[in-house]
Amino acid sequence: MTYDMNLPSNHSNIDFQEGKLNHLLDVDSLSLNSIENLIQSTDLAKKNFVSKTKIPTLKGKTIVNIFFENSTRTRVSFEQAGKLLSADFINVNIPSSSMTKGESILNTIKTIQSIGMDCLIVRHHHSGVPYLIARNVNVPVINAGDSMHAHPTQSLTDIYTIRTELGEIKNKKILIIGDVKHSRVARSNINLLVRLGANITVAAPTTLLPDSWVVQNNTRNLKRVKIISHYLKMESKLAKSDLVMLLRIQKERLDQGCLPDLDEYSKLWGLSKSRFYNLCPKIYIMHPGPVNEGVEIDSEILSLNNSLIDQQVENGVPMRMSVLEFCILK
Ligand code: CP
Repeated sequence: MTYDMNLPSNHSNIDFQEGKLNHLLDVDSLSLNSIENLIQSTDLAKKNFVSKTKIPTLKGKTIVNIFFENSTRTRVSFEQAGKLLSADFINVNIPSSSMTKGESILNTIKTIQSIGMDCLIVRHHHSGVPYLIARNVNVPVINAGDSMHAHPTQSLTDIYTIRTELGEIKNKKILIIGDVKHSRVARSNINLLVRLGANITVAAPTTLLPDSWVVQNNTRNLKRVKIISHYLKMESKLAKSDLVMLLRIQKERLDQGCLPDLDEYSKLWGLSKSRFYNLCPKIYIMHPGPVNEGVEIDSEILSLNNSLIDQQVENGVPMRMSVLEFCILK
């Protein structure tokens, strides 16, 4: 079954390339040229990351992380990226901030702006909050993940990882399995991968697919993505794919009734050892993390050579170095 993909609209009149400020709020407004530039500068930044050599590019600049939702890899890799570029880095701790006394998000951000910042990195559990903030500050804003909507730097990191490990993305057969409905990573990745010419198949029970993909015949579509909602078809696609991207079951966003239970999901849709060794022992494996071990993937597979999960985390630092340079200096 093939459904048209409903790409997110370009919510923002603030363009990564053409606006006065270089916000990075989603991947929609990134041109293929900008993506290529980011990939090339990530290659250069990776040398500094590997040798742990600081460069003075952002000396004198202050970057602020403000995360309203938990994170390990995105938050820490942005901090590491900023420090490798010699920036000063501030992490705002929401539970100990004056927001607990009733201060609004915008007043909190304006307060931090008055104290001094040159770039703001925001994660929020509601879609669109980074856009609201971007319209109310005079520094570049980077979206570090807004609910189910977008996670541009994870997606750019994934694109970079695929290019580095598998070569050209065009015509690569990529299977995305899991909780697409709640996944900002899937939305951003599908957007970029389709534009870069990959053949994308998405496999999930219908309850874990976005409703609009299942019930609507959307006309505002750019490309087509194949959708599979039966696990046996997913198995046959696994055997023919170059790469599988597994997605975390997002228990914190799961509506009641999306899944009978995690054991059943794991049995029908998870990448078990037997599925992997019998069907696709050569396939590359990616997962944006954090992983629910034993649910979407067996722990043993995580450490095989086929797994690019460690590389995804490592590449997150140089990719975020490139993004910070583009946003702050361009
Ligand atoms: N992939 C990702 O966003 O991980 P964190 O939630 O740990 O940042």
